[in-house]
Amino acid sequence: MTRKQISIDTFTFKPMANWDGQGLLLTSGDWKTGHFNAMTVGWGSLGVMWGLPFVQVVVRPVRYTYQFMEKYDTFTVCAFPEAYAPALDLLGNKSGRDGDKISEAGLTPIASTRVAAPGYAQAVLILECRKIYWNDMEKANFLDPRLEKKYPGKDYHRMYYGEVLSIFGEDLYQA
Ligand SMILES: Cc1cc2nc3c(=O)[nH]c(=O)nc-3n(C[C@H](O)[C@H](O)[C@H](O)COP(=O)(O)O)c2cc1C
Repeated sequence: MTRKQISIDTFTFKPMANWDGQGLLLTSGDWKTGHFNAMTVGWGSLGVMWGLPFVQVVVRPVRYTYQFMEKYDTFTVCAFPEAYAPALDLLGNKSGRDGDKISEAGLTPIASTRVAAPGYAQAVLILECRKIYWNDMEKANFLDPRLEKKYPGKDYHRMYYGEVLSIFGEDLYQA
């Protein structure tokens, strides 16, 4: 991959194509100790809050990745070429509790520049983030009945906001 560092003011991202397409990969933990885990995420956002560039992800408490999101201060969100759709499918359907699904998916974790959580050699975009805020989904605040239908198990997501500290991407992510 030919990633280069991209400044926040020239960063360009198609939110619908990225979140709602094959999804993105959320990784939390520490590359140095090897204690990290990853899962595919299809819901989330990118923008500006509190005057800071952020990535927001939502993680159900049942996910193994949730334990890492709670323990560690940083995470990465990565995008991959279309050829990695099967890898993202695997990472979104198997749990890291049951084995090394990252290797099974054919991904190579690499050290990040500013956060402990790793990126991947195969990624076309790596967003390095530090947690700044979390909040739990409140059933009482759902204004549309379609939302509650997403939670037959009442396993409401925890939302995490991470400040974007570094962006590495291929040319298509730069305006
Ligand atoms: C396309 C796709 C998008 C997903 N998006 C989310 C998401 O936004 N939040 C979530 O909690 N789970 C989401 N999942 C489910 C997790 O990725 C899945 O349960 C995964 O196996 C969890 O792995 P873990 O137990 O190793 O953390 C998604 C799965 C797929 C296939």
